[in-house]
Amino acid sequence: MFKFVFINGKLVVENRAKISVKDRGFLYSDGLYETLRSYRGNLFMLDAHVLRLFHSLKVLKYNIPFDEEYVKSAVIKTVSKNNLSRSDAYIKIIVTRGIHSGELHFGGGYKPNLVIIADSLTPYPEVDYTEGINIISSSIRRSAIGSPLYCHKLLNYFENIFAKNEAHCNNAQEAIFLTRDHLILEGASSNIFFVRRSVVYTPPLTQNILPGVTREVVINIFRENRIKIRQKKVHYRDIINADEIFKTSSVAGIVPVKKIDRFVVAGKVPGNITSKLMKLYGDKVEYSKKKFYLRKT
Ligand code: PDD
Repeated sequence: MFKFVFINGKLVVENRAKISVKDRGFLYSDGLYETLRSYRGNLFMLDAHVLRLFHSLKVLKYNIPFDEEYVKSAVIKTVSKNNLSRSDAYIKIIVTRGIHSGELHFGGGYKPNLVIIADSLTPYPEVDYTEGINIISSSIRRSAIGSPLYCHKLLNYFENIFAKNEAHCNNAQEAIFLTRDHLILEGASSNIFFVRRSVVYTPPLTQNILPGVTREVVINIFRENRIKIRQKKVHYRDIINADEIFKTSSVAGIVPVKKIDRFVVAGKVPGNITSKLMKLYGDKVEYSKKKFYLRKT
C-alpha cells in the first residue's frame, strides 16, 4: 500500500515527495517541527502542538501564508489518506523557511514549505513502563539559561541526537542536559520530573527548555488532583536522591526511570505518584478521544 506525504497542499506518494536541496531546512536546519501521536485516531493535543508551532513561527519570523486551522485540517487529511484514522499514528509537521535566496538573514522574501508525515506508531517496549528506563547525564553542558532558541522545536536537533547516542552507548534510553553548574534542564527528547517527599519537581521554562505539551498536561493533572508540583531550578544532587523520576513526551507519554547514571532509584519503580499519574494521563487520553470524535462529526 502506498504511503502519502503532505507537501504544500498536495498529498504525494512517499517516494515522489521531494524538497529541493536548496531548501533552507536542508542547508541550515532553518525550520521547525512538531511531533505528536494519535491514540486510535484521536490526535492527542493537536491544538496545543499547532499553537506551539505557530508561536515559534511568529517569534522566528517565518513568512507564513497559511493559518492554524489549515495545518490542523492538513494533519487530519494526511492521517486519513494513510488509512490511520482508527490506528495509533506518529505525526510530524515540518515547516522550513523555503528555498535559499542567498540572504542568510530572514528577510530574503522566503516562501515556507509545509510537510506532514503520518505513519503507524511503533510502540515503546512495555517493560519501559512497568520497570522503568535508564537515563544518563549528557556530556553536553548548557549555560545557566541555555539559549533562547532551545524553547523552539528547531529542525536543528544535532545536540539532541548526539546526547541520545551517548545514552544508547551507555545502555540507557534517555540523556539529560545539565548546566555547567549541574542544574537539570531537560531530556534530549523529553521533559524531566522527579518526586521527593511527595512533592513533584520539574525545571522552570525560564531556563529556556522546550515547553513540552506533555509537561503542561502533567502539571495540570497534578494541580487538578492536589498533588504538589514545583517548577523550580533543581540540582543534579536532588535528582539522584529522588524517590521517583519520570520523563514526559508526546510520543512516549509518561515513562518511569529506574536509574540515572550509576544511581539506582531507591523506591519501587514506577513509584506511587508516577503510577497515579500514568493512570490519570491514560484517563485524559480516553476523555479527549470522546471530545475529538465529537468535534470531527
Ligand atoms: N521530543 N524536550 C525536548 C528537547 C524534546 O525534543 C521534546 C519532544 C520534549 C517533550 O515535548 P512534548 O511533550 O511536546 O513532546 C522536551 C519529541 C518527542 C520529538 O522530538 O520527536
